[in-house]
Amino acid sequence: MVSIAVNKSRENVAMLGIGAYRPQRIVSNDEVCEVLDSTDQWIYERTGIRNRRWISGDETLRSIAAAAGERALVNTGIDRSKIGALILCTSSWLKLTPHGAPTVAADLGINGIPAFDLTSGCGGFGYGLGVAADLIRAGSADYVLVIGAETMTVGLDPTDRGTAMIFGDGAGAVVVGPSEENGISPTVWGSDGENAEAIAQDVDFLEFMNKAQAMQGTDPAIEPVGRMSLRMEGPRVFRWAAVTLPRALSDALEASGVAKEDIEVFIPHQANARINDLMKKNLGLADEIPMANDIENTGNTSAASIPLAMEEMLVTGKAKGGQLALLLGFGAGLSYAGQVVTLPPAPTEASF
Ligand code: COA
Repeated sequence: MVSIAVNKSRENVAMLGIGAYRPQRIVSNDEVCEVLDSTDQWIYERTGIRNRRWISGDETLRSIAAAAGERALVNTGIDRSKIGALILCTSSWLKLTPHGAPTVAADLGINGIPAFDLTSGCGGFGYGLGVAADLIRAGSADYVLVIGAETMTVGLDPTDRGTAMIFGDGAGAVVVGPSEENGISPTVWGSDGENAEAIAQDVDFLEFMNKAQAMQGTDPAIEPVGRMSLRMEGPRVFRWAAVTLPRALSDALEASGVAKEDIEVFIPHQANARINDLMKKNLGLADEIPMANDIENTGNTSAASIPLAMEEMLVTGKAKGGQLALLLGFGAGLSYAGQVVTLPPAPTEASF
């Protein structure tokens, strides 16, 4: 009987280092409202956002993903030839082929490794972290670089009251690898395709191509196809979040075996400061437990928001390496993914 080999598995994994990149251009609510029919006060009160970053000049999704990845590698102090896989968590890589991760790996000087994109909306980082931890546990890689990177503003309609004031650009990355004590709990994750249209592009690729074909050689007065923009039924997502996320948080705690009282830091996806305040209150986390509020000056950066928020807390001293943190990503899909983790050390090379 022929037996097929299996990898040598291990149990304990952790985030060993973190890095981030914030685009240089800072865009205030007042600047957004030069085009959008809204006000600084409305935006701050309803979302908690004052500023966000937009890419400008040479900055692209590829460049900011690589910049965050580079900082994560440097801050971890790892010989990059040990990285066994790269996961690029993003919903804003604009080509289906080629996908982004292999080029980002090449930019980082680790060409040749397994590298793939993972698309799961704003829950993307939680999915990527879970997949990375399980790859390492299964022995498929020793170290994995997980990058959450988004250029949400490329597909943003600056006049849309449901999205224009919310989304921003940025990238954050972590190196995941073996550790003495386990630092990443089992992932609690899920999706709800019945509510998929609550966050969606307004035109899909097929419709876009059909319209373009129909226009060829026909009436020049036909409306141009235009660009694809993201639309969000905010109140519908808010209602879904109110039902789904408290359950996800308590399931994540249960799966981790860590008591709520032992959680030292709360880092939810930065979608809306009001949602986060409500989640923290409903979960019964003590007032003094620090909660990420990177949304105030970074906006909602989708799959990049959790590593960006984690980096901000570590750099400013609101959180410390080794502390126990509860993470939860959620958004398009609709989907969510959460874990209890120990935080990586504060980065020596910061993004601000
Ligand atoms: N500026 C000013 N007024 C606005 C506005 C804007 N950008 N958008 C809506 N309004 C107005 C509406 O016209 C409405 O006015 P009315 O009461 O006179 O009819 C009022 O504000 C409330 O509108 P509503 O759409 O119910 O706003 P909201 O309080 O739900 O806030 C969001 C909108 C998008 C901020 C909020 O729904 C949200 O954050 N949802 C969840 C998003 C999320 O979690 N996404 C997942 C991750 S990406």
